[in-house]
Amino acid sequence: MIAQSFFFLDKNISGKKIILRKLERYDLEASITWLKDPTVNKFLSHNFKELTIDEELQWFNSIQLSNKDMVFSIIAKDKNKYIGNCGLHRIDWVSKTCELGIVIGNKEYWNKGYGSDVINSITDFAINKLNLVNIHLNVYEYNNRAIKAYKNAGFKLIKILKKNHLYDNKYWDTYVMEYS
Ligand SMILES: CC(C)(COP(=O)(O)OP(=O)(O)OC[C@H]1O[C@@H](n2cnc3c(N)ncnc32)[C@H](O)[C@@H]1OP(=O)(O)O)[C@@H](O)C(=O)NCCC(=O)NCCS
Repeated sequence: MIAQSFFFLDKNISGKKIILRKLERYDLEASITWLKDPTVNKFLSHNFKELTIDEELQWFNSIQLSNKDMVFSIIAKDKNKYIGNCGLHRIDWVSKTCELGIVIGNKEYWNKGYGSDVINSITDFAINKLNLVNIHLNVYEYNNRAIKAYKNAGFKLIKILKKNHLYDNKYWDTYVMEYS
């Protein structure tokens, strides 16, 4: 069974350097390795250090049935390589809002413009295909690369949640950003 939201995906989303296709079960093994990597998950909203493949599978199955989530695999066009995941979450079809998530798990692909291309492409899809009007996200103040990539794609800082995130024995701000 496929979630209703994926009926909007008549073809894969194509950017300059990436293709976004539906996340498949066979992607999960690489995905869990990335999520458990402390140099990656320090930037993410959940601490995935203890994540098991069973829990990952459960999450994957729930996504298949969800009308509020669309999760994509990021494929680098140059080598047709799977490098990360991105998704639209908490899609509210009435207020036309959603939350954006992205992780490029293969660190060889950081800082080469792939993330900005993904963010541009998925934002364009959300606005022009799904007819959403507002996309928001949370990002930690120490994630300067992500903040820059979001700004590159037109996201604006709208709120700062002061010192609400504990990392490395320190409390950090969370920035709320949106595209509208
Ligand atoms: C965040 C992420 C998606 C960005 O993708 P990316 O492909 O690495 O980023 P891009 O190369 O497209 O853009 C990065 C921008 O940040 C800049 N940058 C990199 N390091 C920086 C730093 N320490 N301070 C300020 N800017 C920085 C780059 O110069 C580039 O800007 P430019 O294109 O204007 O020169 C990716 O690095 C990633 O998945 N990281 C781990 C998980 C994560 O942080 N997810 C987001 C959670 S909110």
